[in-house]
Amino acid sequence: MRTHYSGEINEDHIDQTVTVNGWVQNRRDHGGVIFIDLRDKTGILQIVIDPDTPEAFKLADAARHEFVIQAAGIVRNRPEGTTNANMPTGMVEMLVKDLVLLNRCEPLPFQLEDKDISEAVRLKYRFLDLRRPEMQRTLRMRHAVIKTMRRFLEDRDFVELETPILTRSTPEGARDYLVPSRTHPGEFFALPQSPQLFKQLLMVSGFERYYQIARCFRDEDLRADRQPEFTQLDIEMSFIDEDDIIDSMTNMVRKLFSDVMDITVPESFPRISYADAMARFGTDRPDMRIKLELTDVSDLMAGVEFKVFSGPANDAKGRVAALCVPGGSSLSRKQIDAYTKFVGIYGAKGLAYIKVNDVDAGMEGLQSPILKFLPDDVVSQILQRTDAKTGDLIFFGADAAQVVNDALGALRVKVAQDLDMVEEGWALIWVVDFPMVEWDAGEKRWQALHHPFTAPQAQDIELLGTDESDKALSRAYDLVLNGSEIGGGSIRMHDTELQQKVLDMLGIGAEEARSKFGFLLDALKYGAPPHGGMAFGVDRVVAMMSGVDSIRDVIAFPKTQKASCLLTQAPSDVDDLQLRDLGIKLRKPKADA
Ligand code: AMO
Ligand code: AMP
Repeated sequence: MRTHYSGEINEDHIDQTVTVNGWVQNRRDHGGVIFIDLRDKTGILQIVIDPDTPEAFKLADAARHEFVIQAAGIVRNRPEGTTNANMPTGMVEMLVKDLVLLNRCEPLPFQLEDKDISEAVRLKYRFLDLRRPEMQRTLRMRHAVIKTMRRFLEDRDFVELETPILTRSTPEGARDYLVPSRTHPGEFFALPQSPQLFKQLLMVSGFERYYQIARCFRDEDLRADRQPEFTQLDIEMSFIDEDDIIDSMTNMVRKLFSDVMDITVPESFPRISYADAMARFGTDRPDMRIKLELTDVSDLMAGVEFKVFSGPANDAKGRVAALCVPGGSSLSRKQIDAYTKFVGIYGAKGLAYIKVNDVDAGMEGLQSPILKFLPDDVVSQILQRTDAKTGDLIFFGADAAQVVNDALGALRVKVAQDLDMVEEGWALIWVVDFPMVEWDAGEKRWQALHHPFTAPQAQDIELLGTDESDKALSRAYDLVLNGSEIGGGSIRMHDTELQQKVLDMLGIGAEEARSKFGFLLDALKYGAPPHGGMAFGVDRVVAMMSGVDSIRDVIAFPKTQKASCLLTQAPSDVDDLQLRDLGIKLRKPKADA
């Protein structure tokens, strides 16, 4: 139907007769001559219809936004003064000889150029929303990312294999999506939270290098970087250690940046231990574009009279930390109050601070509501340790370590954004040496920090099952890009006994383990090779690379924050008959009863 794409027409085509197809982006009537901006996937071409071609003119006159047309005509230079150097086709236009109306378009529910359309409307009319150049850009970028991942892995002999969607629960820590079975009344499949168990089985089967662009399902609280249904690049390898995976995945990420964005990132990415990341940044996914760091001052505060500080300083689970903000002494009372409110979201009960108006003037040069509670020598050690300069402001957090880390970790990012202290660029960092487990105070038991198949570091196996289980480090690693966890994985246990020991520690008894993933425990007994792997959050990678705020903007048909689809109205009621087939009777929520 076409000889050329609209966006590709340029001065090389002058005097040629071409046929293009596309949508009417815009129509202008200039006193007898009609101009249409015709858009296809490559871009926009200005076509001109004059009354000398009466049939075409009549059609053009009736054309409206987003009508679908075919236009044939001759390419010519735009008259002087009407060229547009900002447009690839801006030097030329087409004088139309023939115009065919391929389809009409109802008045649009919103204008495609409108930047302030609510997301609800965009999602309801997603097929129109996706016509917008920004959405075309991000989804095409998604394609480029996935294509590059596939090429990279295929060049290295990875086999792409699919694993079941209708399966058993896979323990990644979220709630399962369940699917009732008609043929086994009262029984349910779970949708996979990841292909974790199957990819380990494939290693037992001898594939050695597996990958999959895998859809994963997790019924968890949603945020800008979380969808109930998302895509992983899932990878597993045999006879490798963590350095092998980290090296090859570093190379893959470098290739993504070079092929998709023409950007060179460093040959290797720095590694930081979980403990260091928490101590310095208050988070296990630090944004390394921000140079601000937390400084531990617990030891300095242990002896002070100010209970707010000495309490946590003397508590094994407490922490007192400082965050020195260069130039921060210009913050107003109102701004500081706003930050105090901000850290409250993370459970902080206050936000003490010292303004350093003149670092050489001793206590006189400082301004703070807490100075009166702190001995001079403690204050001067704080200034030293935080390397505070004239004009800086030091914030303090004192509480349970987790509260301080969450609060000051988030404050670090917020202040950096507000004061324009986030550097440009792509900060990639591997986080390693995670603890195997953390204590779940609610359920009163150890929980795997990663998942229950992650191997412990050899020197720490003895600690497992003791009171110091949380001191045992695992062989897990995460990849963090500009403060977002884009991937994670681990070396697994290939030894049934060790696996059983870890499951015991997690309070997953032999019987429960057998019923939940006995097939994996069995498989490990039949010559399982040492293996490990990793999964990337494809949506997150693309969102970061394309610079959008939400992964919803890089998913063609995403769900809302409440995990529904506004386009198809899913989830939805089903027929009584369907339910009866499945042996299901609905229990109405109490409020409706
Ligand atoms: P993990 O649970 O860390 O590991 O998931 C891997 C990566 O998937 C992305 N991700 C998500 N993206 C969007 N929405 C979500 N709800 C969501 N949850 C996770 C993150 C994360 O880093 N089986 C292991 C991998 C392994 O050990 O090999 C796993 O699933 O970017
Ligand atoms: P107060 O003695 O409650 O007036 O607190 C004195 C200063 O300490 C105020 O600036 C509070 O914001 C701050 N503050 C109170 N509790 C904490 C805390 N847990 N961590 C850090 N600062 C705090």
